[in-house]
Parts: sequence; structure tokens; C-alpha cells
Amino acid sequence: MKSLINIMDLSVAEIDELISVANDIIKNPLKYREACKYKTLATLFFEPSTRTRLSFESAMIELGGSVLGFSEASSSSAAKGESVGDTVKVVGGYADIIAMRHPKEGAPLVASLKSDVPIINAGDGGHFHPTQTLTDLLTIKSEKGSLDNLTIGFCGDLKYGRTVHSLIAAMSRYKNINLVLISPKELMLPDYVKEEYIKGSEMSVYETASLEEAMPKLDVLYMTRIQRERFKNLDDYERLKDSYILTLDKLNSAKEDMIILHPLPRVNEISTAVDEDKRAAYFRQARNGKFIRMALILKLLNEKEGSPKVLQNYNNAVILDKACKNHNCITTTEQEIKNAFYKNADEDFYRCAYCDNKLED
Ligand code: NCD
Repeated sequence: MKSLINIMDLSVAEIDELISVANDIIKNPLKYREACKYKTLATLFFEPSTRTRLSFESAMIELGGSVLGFSEASSSSAAKGESVGDTVKVVGGYADIIAMRHPKEGAPLVASLKSDVPIINAGDGGHFHPTQTLTDLLTIKSEKGSLDNLTIGFCGDLKYGRTVHSLIAAMSRYKNINLVLISPKELMLPDYVKEEYIKGSEMSVYETASLEEAMPKLDVLYMTRIQRERFKNLDDYERLKDSYILTLDKLNSAKEDMIILHPLPRVNEISTAVDEDKRAAYFRQARNGKFIRMALILKLLNEKEGSPKVLQNYNNAVILDKACKNHNCITTTEQEIKNAFYKNADEDFYRCAYCDNKLED
């Protein structure tokens, strides 16, 4: 039984296969109409969502399966203090596969350690969002023809933007990738993403605060929302929220065949006038989310019993008598889970195996 917690749990070959199955589903939807007959997907969403939850649910319905679940923590027993581990143990008795979104980083990993059915991470705090990455990869492949030889600009909230973290990790395995990281200094990419996925890869990286400067070089512009809900101080949010607003004027210096992606929801970082430009690919991207999730559900449900659990960094972790101090880490709320930490070869400190934050002394 395999879960998808981190995009790196999938090999490049597995991702290629998911993209080709998704493309086949797009061409021949009727072929898949009963592929998951008598199977049930549970969507456990402890945090708001439109696209991710509904695309998971419509994916399962179009595969002929059933869906159940909840869309807010307040309507589940989490409101009574039930742990993530107990929740998935119970739901595993009602469903064959679980998609979970949670505000605490590492919650889906904890769930996968306890669960008897596959767990799909549908977003954990400001950490990772692997199924959005699969959506992004399918979109880039369809629109640009390849996942190699691309200059990709990530613009906006690179600190809390979990979709950015997962997509950068995924891109580290393709050829000739140049990253342009466009953010205010307060919202720069976290160092665990740089250490784990950029360092040691062949990707080149250029950091700037100017979207105008970056624009002419880009093949893909990945816009993001400033993540209001993750700010500790809302004055900082107010100061930074309008850092980047993409307008038609700004697109004048962009390549004719550049594509604009955005995981959505958009607040005001892309003017609606841009929607009419052929480079605006974000609504096509949202639609792709359903097809790639269909391919993923099929893959995980068809996985042979007993196939190994691949859990990035957790498998090599050591147990220490110390606690992670990241207040968004699942270890701060979930009872009786191991304090697991790992060390990178060239770092002389530990990182939490659930949220990847540096262990403070
Ligand atoms: C993103 C998310 O939840 O991280 N949305 C999505 O899943 N499509 C992006 C966001 O909320 O800004």
C-alpha cells in the first residue's frame, strides 16, 4: 500500500505514466467510467478548498466510485479533540482511499503511518501539495510539449506557497531547468526547499524581487496568492499583499509562447483582463486537476498489497528526546508520535521529519 505524501514519493517514470493515463482519460473518458466501481474515496478536509476537494470528488465519481467526507474540521470529531491517527483508522473502515488536507505540516505523513488505506496529501499547511504538482506537470507538458529545457518564474508567496515547494522539488529531476524566484525578501523560498531539492540538482537559480526584470526570460510564469491565513502578523500581510499584480501591460515584454499558471484561488495578483490572453493557462490547469487525480486514484487503488511505503526522510530518521518548535508542525498537537529527525549530509543540525523545519536547540 502506497501513499502520496511528497511528490518525490513518485519516480519520474511513475509521473510520466500518470500523465499518459490522464491524457488517455481526456481522450477516452467512457473507458474509465466503471474503473472504480464499488470503491470509495474519503475526502477529509480540515482546511478550506474548492478545486482540490471537488476535483478529487468528481474524479472518483467519473471513475464510477463513491465519495464521502467532510469539508471543514468543525464538522468532524477533530472539533472534539480526535487525533489525525484515530480519524484515519476509523475512516479506513468506510473508504478504500483517503485524500486529506490539514493546516498542520506533516499531518498526512502521520495519517499514512497509522492508516490501513492509501493516504493522499491534498495540502499540509505551508509545506507540500503534491497533487497540485501533478496537475501543474500535466499542464506544462500539454502546453509546452516537454518538462525539460524550461525557465520557470515563481512569483509571490514562495515562503508559504506549498504548491511552489512541491513543484520545485518535482522540477529538480528534469533537464536544463532554470528557476527564477520572484518574491519580496520576507516571502523568499524556505531553506529546506533549497537544501533538499535545489542544492545538488542541476537546476540553476536566480532570485529577484522584480517581476518586470524576470518577465522576458520566462517560458512559464507561476503566479501565487499571498497566503493570508499563514501570516503570524496580519500587518505584514497588509504590507505585502499587493507585491505583484500581473496586468496586460506587464505581459508586453513576455515571450509570445510563455504560459501563465496559478494554482488558484486568485485574489488580485492577476488582473481579470489577463484571462483573455492566450498565455493565460490557469483555468485549463484547474480542469486538468480532475484528470490527473483520476489517474492517481486508479494507480494507488491498483497498487499491489504489501508494496513498500516510501516516506521521504522519515525512513532514515532518528528518534530524539527533543521536540520540533515549529508551531505549525503536527507534532505540536498529535499525541504519542515519535519525535523523528533527519540530518542532511552537509548540514550540522537536524530537521523535523514531519515538517522539515530546522530543530532549534
Ligand atoms: C492552493 C493551495 O491550497 O495550496 N490551491 C489549490 O489547491 N489549488 C493555492 C492557494 O491556496 O493559494
